[in-house]
Amino acid sequence: MPFDVARIRQAHPALAEGYAHFDGAAGTLVAEPVARAVAGVLGGAVSNRTTAFAPGRRALAIVDAARAAAGDLLGADPAGVVFGQSATALVYTVARGLAGTWEPGDNVVVTRLDHDANVRPWVQLASAMGVEVRWAAFDPATGALPVAAFEPLVDARTRVVAVTAASNAIGTVPDVPAIAALAHGFGAVVHVDGVHATAHLPVDVAALGADYYVTSAYKWSGPHLAACVAAPAQWERTAMLKLLPSSDAVPERFELGTPSFELLAGFTAAVDFLATLDDAGTPDDAGVLNGSGVLNGAASRRERVLRSMAAVHSYETRLFERLLDGLRSMPAVRVLPAPAGGCPTVSFRIAGEDPATTAARLGDQGICVFSGDYYAAEYFTAMGLRESGGAVRAGIYHYTTADEVDRLLAAL
Ligand SMILES: Cc1ncc(COP(=O)(O)O)c(C=O)c1O
Repeated sequence: MPFDVARIRQAHPALAEGYAHFDGAAGTLVAEPVARAVAGVLGGAVSNRTTAFAPGRRALAIVDAARAAAGDLLGADPAGVVFGQSATALVYTVARGLAGTWEPGDNVVVTRLDHDANVRPWVQLASAMGVEVRWAAFDPATGALPVAAFEPLVDARTRVVAVTAASNAIGTVPDVPAIAALAHGFGAVVHVDGVHATAHLPVDVAALGADYYVTSAYKWSGPHLAACVAAPAQWERTAMLKLLPSSDAVPERFELGTPSFELLAGFTAAVDFLATLDDAGTPDDAGVLNGSGVLNGAASRRERVLRSMAAVHSYETRLFERLLDGLRSMPAVRVLPAPAGGCPTVSFRIAGEDPATTAARLGDQGICVFSGDYYAAEYFTAMGLRESGGAVRAGIYHYTTADEVDRLLAAL
């Protein structure tokens, strides 16, 4: 079945404003069922969690439904789903929770390709604990981050290997399963930043070998809420400072205070929406409030998510080739190198033009792109481009059209 981008665009009423959104790596528009789910909680009788009365039971059900949704999205155990305000906040939670057992002589491995959210928390906790930081370098000529970059770094004293599932700057998808196998061979914990990858690829945390995998729903048509998944036994080994009366159980002990029930309902609706992307049906088929984890049709939501994300990947890859071909045909455009087969996100610079000027020029024409380092600070420092303004980033999302790609190329 062809990918029905027109139907998907209809589910994003904000697209009617006419902007061409190549800024999905910084945040996507929210699908309409998601907005409806959030508003449904805020406008309905939803109390704080209690079994004593129905509005309190609704709150309990919303949390359970969101854990089930994250489990279906990522192939994870719902009992190991921890929600947090942002991926950044969750990486700090995990890093603090692990660092207490580190000792001088230990080391942690981070990469120069990662978003700073999966770098700085580890570097700062390593510094606090007197632990060495080892840096896995990408190849500046190709943008690849091969497993060979980790081989000389990982040893029996490695406590954590923190690596991205996809670069938010150039789309590189490292061989995380091989990197994880290497790390696990030495008993290290693998922390995977899935914030960029989740929007573009089917995800299976077990196949990746991720001990922790973090994702942020606002990168895939959801609200501003993040989830980190790990096996419950792994969370048991993760320390957390918490209030006396609050639950010490996993996963609740990592979720400080009262959760945002409205955003949790939006999170579930976003997963339900992703599960419809490859459907003949309408996005309205998606469960909205209190998604049960079971949608219309025979296949499970997990199966439908995997099928949908595979369809997303092939649709986005085709459009991305059109974008790359167009960029590469322009002599004044320097495309930063990235290996084939990555996520559909490109960074480039125009000769003689500051990246911020390029972004503003496109912005004036209703074309949304980011410029700068987009927090991939180590990447741009290693490329020698950070001081001079980084680059311009354009990404394909599953609501992007070929016409929009042509509009961007014409504007450049
Ligand atoms: C790859 C990657 N990791 C982490 C983050 C941080 O996510 P959050 O804004 O949820 O902290 C981002 C945000 O841009 C990202 O692209």
